[in-house]
Amino acid sequence: MSRAEIHHDASDLFAAVKRSAEQIAAFLPEGAAPKIALVLGSGLGSYADALSDAKGIDYAELGFPRSGVVGHAGRLVYGRAAKSETSPGVEVLLMQGRVHTYEGHSLQTVVLPVRAMVMAGCKTVVLTNAAGGVGAGLEAGDLVLLRDHLNLMGDSPLRGPNDDRFGPRFPDMTEVYDAKLRAVAEQVAAKLSIRLKSGVYAGLLGPQYETPSEVRMLRGLGADLVGMSTVPEAIVARHMGAKVLGMSCVSNLAAGMSGQPLSHEEVTETANRVRATFIKLLDGIMAELVSLC
Ligand code: HPA
Repeated sequence: MSRAEIHHDASDLFAAVKRSAEQIAAFLPEGAAPKIALVLGSGLGSYADALSDAKGIDYAELGFPRSGVVGHAGRLVYGRAAKSETSPGVEVLLMQGRVHTYEGHSLQTVVLPVRAMVMAGCKTVVLTNAAGGVGAGLEAGDLVLLRDHLNLMGDSPLRGPNDDRFGPRFPDMTEVYDAKLRAVAEQVAAKLSIRLKSGVYAGLLGPQYETPSEVRMLRGLGADLVGMSTVPEAIVARHMGAKVLGMSCVSNLAAGMSGQPLSHEEVTETANRVRATFIKLLDGIMAELVSLC
């Protein structure tokens, strides 16, 4: 089956996810039971260095698709986040990089790792990305908490026969990004004096960046951020009943807003610039999740 095709047999898909979940379980150290999955977007993968007792495995060994995009390492890392003298920290599974549907993968393939991590026990999924800023007042380098999304990819990772073992045929999407987790993130940001805005993320297919007219359209539709990921992962996590927290790093102002052409270098450069703040915030959130998850 070509990567871009979807499984038309729901039990085949379920079996593929189950296989990956079992491979994750086999990779975990004895007694480990991570309940939080973290997906790190473009240039943000270095949070893995902040984990204690870390252990990594190549995506290929887990049946995960590999990304060819610069800034996406392609390793799953297990470790303890926010470990300190007074806290054992919280166990996490962390994806350094993700694949995108614009690389030629079906959305089913794109979301396989998230489904596998949820099946392996991660009932909280933290999704991060680098995004273009569309909303008024956003600047490159801003960190933004997702409060909702617009699926403008023209496709759904749930297309095809539904396997009820994942979730219902028509899952509710009223609160994709968990209100309690958002409140925690906001409290942590306030405590650390980190400016954290909130916004609606529009997920587009890409890979070309938007035209200025498309950006105006997105603003009219209520988008604050635009990117090429996150939405499908959030959909399947909710489909499986996991809680989702989403966070964007504004890597650039969207097309037509700054007078400058966009480039992937700018995206990774901004991510590099805000990395330390981003890691501090993420670590603070993880410290709070020690008692919540
Ligand atoms: N548009 C779409 N995706 C992006 C952007 C953008 O401006 N920046 C980072 N990812």
